[in-house]
Amino acid sequence: MKRIAVLTSGGDAPGMNAAIRAVVRRGIFNNLEIFGVRHGYQGLMEGSFVPLELGSVGDIIHRGGTILYSARSEKFKTEEGQKSALDQLKGNGIEGLIVIGGDGSFRGALQLTKKGFPTIGIPGTIDNDIPCTDFTLGFDTAVNTVIDAIDKIRDTATSHERTYVIEVMGRDAGDIALWSGLAGGAESILIPEAETNLDDLCQRLIQGHKRGKKHSIIIVAEGVSSGSEIGNLIRERTGFETRVTVLGHIQRGGSPSAFDRLLGSRMGAEAVDLLLAGEAGVMVGIQNNHMIAVPFEEALSQTHQPSLDLYDLARTLSI
Ligand code: ADP
Ligand code: F6P
Repeated sequence: MKRIAVLTSGGDAPGMNAAIRAVVRRGIFNNLEIFGVRHGYQGLMEGSFVPLELGSVGDIIHRGGTILYSARSEKFKTEEGQKSALDQLKGNGIEGLIVIGGDGSFRGALQLTKKGFPTIGIPGTIDNDIPCTDFTLGFDTAVNTVIDAIDKIRDTATSHERTYVIEVMGRDAGDIALWSGLAGGAESILIPEAETNLDDLCQRLIQGHKRGKKHSIIIVAEGVSSGSEIGNLIRERTGFETRVTVLGHIQRGGSPSAFDRLLGSRMGAEAVDLLLAGEAGVMVGIQNNHMIAVPFEEALSQTHQPSLDLYDLARTLSI
């Protein structure tokens, strides 16, 4: 193998640049030529390749987003779209592809592998919703962004003795809500993977209020409901002055944490090593601090589960 390409696809995540840097540097270290594909699968179908040298990835390890841009493409889901992508790869003499993205991006990579093109995945999404890996790239940074917001909201919640509902991202997964809620000392955390009992939540708020607790923070994962709907229900049932904050896309940006820089560096290098070892159709993951490789089909056939012991711990610590 002499020439490989790398692309970022789906929602961007802090740490993607660290992974691109590692792919390029590990590849060049092994005498490979590296090409970046701009705009994910859209750019792949259009042949939007850019040569990446050692210097192309200088000064990016600390930057959020992705220097290769990201995109979503409906056309790539079709046979015609995948054929265009394969024609572009082969026409440019590329022999292996590294896809940094979420489960949708891996479904696309699996199609390329099934059609005979060696593809390796790196899980990059703030949602932490990919099975078979303890962490995805960007999750740690997103959790840190959320706890920074919780700390700030706590200041004003305390001053005004208000109840705050904070809606966080995660698509269908509750990991961001769970980890940030626990680390931010939230009174309640609502996640899609656990039953939401608003009567119980309101009772706990009222009991806390009777004990002298005048402010509360409730974290709602977007996969449960909108923050405003939960805020309205709490206001109606408790009569407490309640405000709602939707953190939105700020959770996707920012300089990656040390953890995500390290994870991106390790996963990027591992992906190159796997291609060189002749592997294809696998995703890099981290389990118990070790790099592992899992077939796409195995990862995609499973359902991600957050650590529900953390959920129980959060309930215990927020009484
Ligand atoms: P993520 O990778 O973050 O989960 P998406 O689900 O939006 O993001 O997927 C990113 C892109 O991957 C899609 O826009 C599409 O081009 C490609 N993709 C998703 N699902 C499939 C599929 N079943 N077959 C082929 N390509 C897919
Ligand atoms: O998958 C990452 C994510 O940020 C989810 O948490 C969120 O639901 C979604 O992407 C938002 O997507 P968009 O960028 O299309 O608004």
